Amino acid sequence: MILAIANQKGGVGKTTTAINLAAALAQKGFDTLLVDLDPQGNATLSFLDPEQVALSVYDALVEEGKSLKDAVHKTNLKHLDVIPARISLAKFESKLLGDIDSHFRLKDRLKTALRDYKYVVMDTPPTLGLLTVNALVAATHLLIPIQSSYFALEGTDDLLETVEKIKARPNPHLEFLGVVITIHDKRTILGRDIRNHIREVFGAKVFRTIISRSVRLEESPAYKESIFSFAPHSTGALEYYKLSEKVIGRV
Ligand SMILES: Nc1ncnc2c1ncn2[C@@H]1O[C@H](COP(=O)(O)OP(=O)(O)OP(=O)(O)O)[C@@H](O)[C@H]1O
Ligand SMILES: [Mg+2]
Repeated sequence: MILAIANQKGGVGKTTTAINLAAALAQKGFDTLLVDLDPQGNATLSFLDPEQVALSVYDALVEEGKSLKDAVHKTNLKHLDVIPARISLAKFESKLLGDIDSHFRLKDRLKTALRDYKYVVMDTPPTLGLLTVNALVAATHLLIPIQSSYFALEGTDDLLETVEKIKARPNPHLEFLGVVITIHDKRTILGRDIRNHIREVFGAKVFRTIISRSVRLEESPAYKESIFSFAPHSTGALEYYKLSEKVIGRV
């Protein structure tokens, strides 16, 4: 499975979901590759120090004759490798503009790395630009995190429209795996209303496992840890572990 985690809305929990889902899969003993496709590099910084990054995803995508395999870095978690991003990735769009393979670059260069992994998890930036499109073209499945907030569904129409276009041509096999509700506050009426509204719109696509708002989830990246080593008994760890099982079950 090659899973793209995308929502062009910012700060909805894409990166938090990508790092903890990847960590959960690795913890289950599956060889897992986390690909950071966001120039902000938040997923990268959750596992590596900037000075540990030799070749980044940008170099591997843009330089002649490179493959993404060249940019694989080990993490201190068994079974989890990461392809890191640096701010240089922001140049990707302008660099590839006009190239005939610009939508397929990631898919093409990921190929050689694929046979080493059971799961690939891709974190994407909060835009519907070329990086996100590359992720959706390379992916077998799409997971959309939606923050439990009043403006939660703003922009999801555009995202689904992009997905339809990608399914129409470059990637007919792309499967919409589901929606995960994140940063949820179940104690408030607003929280419950929003959850119900998301379920009305997306129906069975919405995972029953919901990620609650949790300080632990916010803290763990600062200590270069996933939630499973940082706070193994927290609700965040429990919820992301359950989500990983549901994700495996839906494939
Ligand atoms: N369940 C949660 N409970 C509390 N805080 C959370 C939770 N999930 C994410 N956060 C925090 O919310 C902020 C945004 O989360 P995150 O970086 O995962 O979102 P994102 O969609 O990747 O953002 P961006 O669009 O900027 O890439 C971060 O500070 C993160 O630590
Ligand atoms: Mg992010």
